[in-house]
Formats: sequence, structure tokens, C-alpha cells
Amino acid sequence: MGYVGLCTAVALANKGYTVLASENNTGKAAQIRQGIPPFHEPGLEPLLNKVIKNNRLEIANQTEDAILETDITFITVGTPSNPDGSINLQHIDSASSDIGKALAKKHTYSIVVVKSTVVPGTTQNNVKKTMEECSKKNCGPDFGLCMNPEFLRQGSALNDTLNPDRIVIGSHDTKSGDLLENLYRAIYSKKQPTYVRTTLSTAELIKYASNSFLATKISFINMIANMCERIPGADSKTVAQAMGLDKRIGPLFLDSGLGYGGSCFPKDTKALIACSKKLEYNPQLLDSVEEINKAQPLRAIELCRELIGNLKGKRIAILGLAFKPNTDDMREARAIPLINGLADEGAEVSSYDPVAMPAAKKIFDYRIEYAASAMECLRNADCCVIVTEWDEFKQLKPEHFISEMRNPAIVDGRRIYDPIEYGKKIKFRAIGLGPREK
Ligand code: UDX
Repeated sequence: MGYVGLCTAVALANKGYTVLASENNTGKAAQIRQGIPPFHEPGLEPLLNKVIKNNRLEIANQTEDAILETDITFITVGTPSNPDGSINLQHIDSASSDIGKALAKKHTYSIVVVKSTVVPGTTQNNVKKTMEECSKKNCGPDFGLCMNPEFLRQGSALNDTLNPDRIVIGSHDTKSGDLLENLYRAIYSKKQPTYVRTTLSTAELIKYASNSFLATKISFINMIANMCERIPGADSKTVAQAMGLDKRIGPLFLDSGLGYGGSCFPKDTKALIACSKKLEYNPQLLDSVEEINKAQPLRAIELCRELIGNLKGKRIAILGLAFKPNTDDMREARAIPLINGLADEGAEVSSYDPVAMPAAKKIFDYRIEYAASAMECLRNADCCVIVTEWDEFKQLKPEHFISEMRNPAIVDGRRIYDPIEYGKKIKFRAIGLGPREK
């Protein structure tokens, strides 16, 4: 019942299917049973409440019950990274073995669908093999198997689940793929997405290729942004807007900033690099994408230094901690290397985020201050860094910074302010913005 599992379960239950979910963490299971989502996701709570109340979604007491009493089993367990960046399959392996043991007791045909992000070959070599060994049954005639990657984004997870661009179905055999496609065709009755039917390993690779291509777009524009900062009059935001008008390029995922974070891009790019190296192919491009992303949050520290000099003893206000707006997720958030870097320079940090502060406290503990509002965060600060582009920060005017800060100076790490308006009144630097043309 992580992000993908809970959102998929709620979306299916809301469409009238009966969903039996399995969650090993008893605290989390109890919370979900009460209709409380374990993470912040817009729109999720009312829908979860509804499907819990009308018994469309139930958390099974035993994983086995969830498998025995249903027709389709979705595997949505996490696939974290090993220390070397390669994928850790321990949860996939234990889920496959649990499912295999349950399939041994099952008298009807059902299909198993891998939704977790797994490197090419995993569904065939790990999931299928373990399930066949544990069930003593044959994949194909006795049970079906599909690989169906999920492309939902945190912060718009339900909308992405209900309105996908495409549904990718990798299948072990045609019967399994047809059954899964029919389920989706019934769900999206009026507005059908494009269906891509393929092999298990191609489906697995599609997910990695999509995520690492988006990561590449972000590092590409950040590379251009870093050049712009050295060119008088240049602005990466306008470069991106104009590039995006070319249909071959498209406007999305060209926002320069402090780089990408979250539970997917960093992990998936690393896993694809490790997978490629295992195949004895050097994925040079992805190595550079990662390198640029690692350096990007530290660029904000350099800009702070350019504005206010040595940071030792200076008070820096951090607006936004989550890896992106509309989530409380701090995984790989750009705020982490940035705040650690500021602390290394001897700066004092005050922070504010509308929802991610409880998650941030687990990471930074008492090393930084947590303000109750954006205005409190700015109070007596010498410089402010915009780290996450929450709407409420976009509403702030230069006067708010001037009235609260000891020394009004802003580093706009997400390009939310108009440099002309702010630059007139406050010391202002932004990612991707060159010095004024003389
Ligand atoms: C991503 C994929 O978009 C989704 O399809 C996949 O299923 C899971 O991974 P998510 O991690 O929720 O989704 O967030 P996303 O909106 O893609 O943003 C990822 C990171 O990239 C954020 O840190 C965001 O700030 C950053 N980003 C995004 C940019 O820096 N610039 C952009 O132009 C877009």
C-alpha cells in the first residue's frame, strides 16, 4: 500500500471493483482502514473514505486471502536501491513467493500483474520463476503474468491514474495480456488511452526509458541554465519556452531549477545505469544526467554567496522542503544536499514547508529551525532560497521579503518570481538567469 498500490486500489475500488489489499505494516494498515491516507496526496482522502465506507476496498488480514479471493493480483511493492545504485529486489522476491504459495492453493485461473518498477528481465527471471517454484504450477496454462508499469506522478496521482496517456501491457502470453487490457478498457470506457502491447522486458524498459528521458530533459535544461548564468542578458526560462514551442521537443519537463528529486527519477536513473553496466554497455549520457543533478542544488549556495558573501553565521531562510509541490515526500528532496551544504558553510537555517515539515524533522532533527509560516521563516534572514514552488510562495511580493528579512536577498531556485519586478527592489539571483546586459 505504497503510493502506486494505494492509488491504484482506490481508483479501481472507486470504479466499482472490489479490492482486497495487503499491507505488512500494521500501523499503516490500521490507518488506511480508518480512511486516513498515510501520505499527502490531493483528492485521495475523500475517495479513500468513500471506498472504505462502501466496502469496495478492504485491507486483508493475510496476504494469502487477498490472492485467493480475487481474480487479479497487482504487485506494487517498493524496489529500493542497493548501495551501488542497482535495484534491490527483496520485496519483489518475497511478494512472488507469497503469491506462489497462495497460487498453489487456488483452484481458479488468475493473473499476476507486476506494477512495481523492475529492471528488464525481472518479471521473467525472478517473479515467474519464484511463483512457479512455490506454486508447482506453470505460468501460462495455470496462471497469467503481465508487466504493467505505472506512470503516475505524486501530487497528481489520482488524476494520472484516471487519465493516463498510455497503458503499457507486457505479457507472458496473449491470454494474460487480453484479460488485463479488458480490465482497463472497461475502466476507461469513454476515454480510451493508447494501449501498447509488448513483451515483459520491453514493458519493464519502457518505464526506465521514460523516467530517465524526463530526467535527461531536466539535466539538459539545467546545463543550459548554468551556461545562461554566465552570459549577460541570457535567461534559461525563455530559452525553454521557445524550445518547447517546437513540437519535436515539447514544453514539459524543461523547467530549470535545483534538479530532480523524489522516489523515482534518482532511483530509476541509477538502476538503469547499473543495469546497463551489467550488460557491459557504458551509459555515458545517464552518467552526465546524474552528475549535473548532483551539482545543481549546490548552485543555490554559490548564488547565496554571490549575493551576501561568506555564509558563516548568516541566517538563510529555506522556503519549501518537499521534493516538489503538493506532496510531503522528502525522498531525495533537493533541500537535503542544499541544507547540508549550508550547514557545512556555518550558516544558520530556518525552514518552512506547508506540508513536509514532519517528514523533514525526521531528516534534519534539531539542526535547523522550523517556522510556522513563510513570513516567520523569513524573519531576520540574510538570504532566502526558494526550493519548492508551492503556490503560496508564488503569492509573496517583494514587500513581504523586505518587511521581514534582516537583509532582503533572494535566490529563486525554481524560477517563480519575475526577475525585473524583484530585481528592482531586492538583491535577487535566480537559477538560469544571467547578469544584466550592460
Ligand atoms: C515521476 C514521473 O513523472 C512519473 O511518470 C513516474 O511514475 C514517477 O516519477 P514524480 O517523481 O512524482 O513522478 O514527480 P515529477 O513531477 O516527475 O517530478 C520529479 C522531479 O523533477 C521533481 O523534483 C521536480 O521538481 C523535478 N522537475 C520536474 C524539474 O526540476 N523540472 C521540470 O521541468 C520537471
